[in-house]
Amino acid sequence: MFGFVMPDYVVFGNPVAHSRSPAIHQAFAGQQGLAIDYRRQCVPLDGFAAAADAFFAGGGQGANVTLPFKTEAHAWVSRLSERAAAAGAVNTLYRAADGVVVGDNTDGIGLVRDITQLQGVALSGKRVMLLGAGGAARGAVLPLLAAGAAAVLVVNRTVAKAEQLAARFGVSAAGFDTAAAWPAEVVINATSGSLSGALMPLPDAVWARAELVYDMMYAAELTPFLRQAQAAGAARVADGLGMLVAQAAEAYALWRGFVPDIAPVVAAIRAEMEAACAG
Ligand code: ATR
Repeated sequence: MFGFVMPDYVVFGNPVAHSRSPAIHQAFAGQQGLAIDYRRQCVPLDGFAAAADAFFAGGGQGANVTLPFKTEAHAWVSRLSERAAAAGAVNTLYRAADGVVVGDNTDGIGLVRDITQLQGVALSGKRVMLLGAGGAARGAVLPLLAAGAAAVLVVNRTVAKAEQLAARFGVSAAGFDTAAAWPAEVVINATSGSLSGALMPLPDAVWARAELVYDMMYAAELTPFLRQAQAAGAARVADGLGMLVAQAAEAYALWRGFVPDIAPVVAAIRAEMEAACAG
């Protein structure tokens, strides 16, 4: 079955050497009985537009965009999806039927799919506390509302940024001190704090009453943030590996018109990460 080499796809980033996107998309292609030509491309920090121009002029079919280029990609495209416009960031580039390269953002829907499909937690009617007010949080608000969340509270260390983000989408904002009293069924960490193992300054009661505590970061072991939530009695904790795979699946569907099965790919990467750490 293999041997079909599809037109080129890439992930643009810097650094990008450790990106799992090629393996994820290869696994999706495997579900179709195909191979895909998907590469990593490390782009100079001031070189996103030139790299994207050259890739699509050369017949590239689709690209993922990772840090730190999601805002540059948003500026580079001449056409944006509604969700990319709302997120202010682009993580997926694809060619529309008329050949124009469209900037889309599949991160938020990836988060929602992971929560509702892989974690099995309905968002409909739930109160969602969203920690952080940067790019990751911004992309999550509309998809959470679209999934039926009853309320979203944006909580940030710098309260003014939470207020600004919340006002954009008509939701509420708070600092960590006042957020403590807000009863949320779902708490999502969209801060970059987990990168450095930071804990969030919220009392145990917040975690204890949560149905799901979610960290957009992922690692071989539970992040310190998730360990804190679990120790305090969170019913369920999950890291962002499912979101990573689900955002990729949405991109793959845009490119190839095939909706991949997410669960086996998450399981395979998880097993690989655990094996690498056990060694
Ligand atoms: P991203 O695009 O990943 O969201 P960002 O735009 O730089 O990155 O935003 C980082 C977010 O993580 C911010 O909300 C930041 O809070 P401030 O706005 O107060 O800086 C939050 N953040 C980073 N480290 C944190 C920590 N240790 N504790 C709490 N919030 C943290």
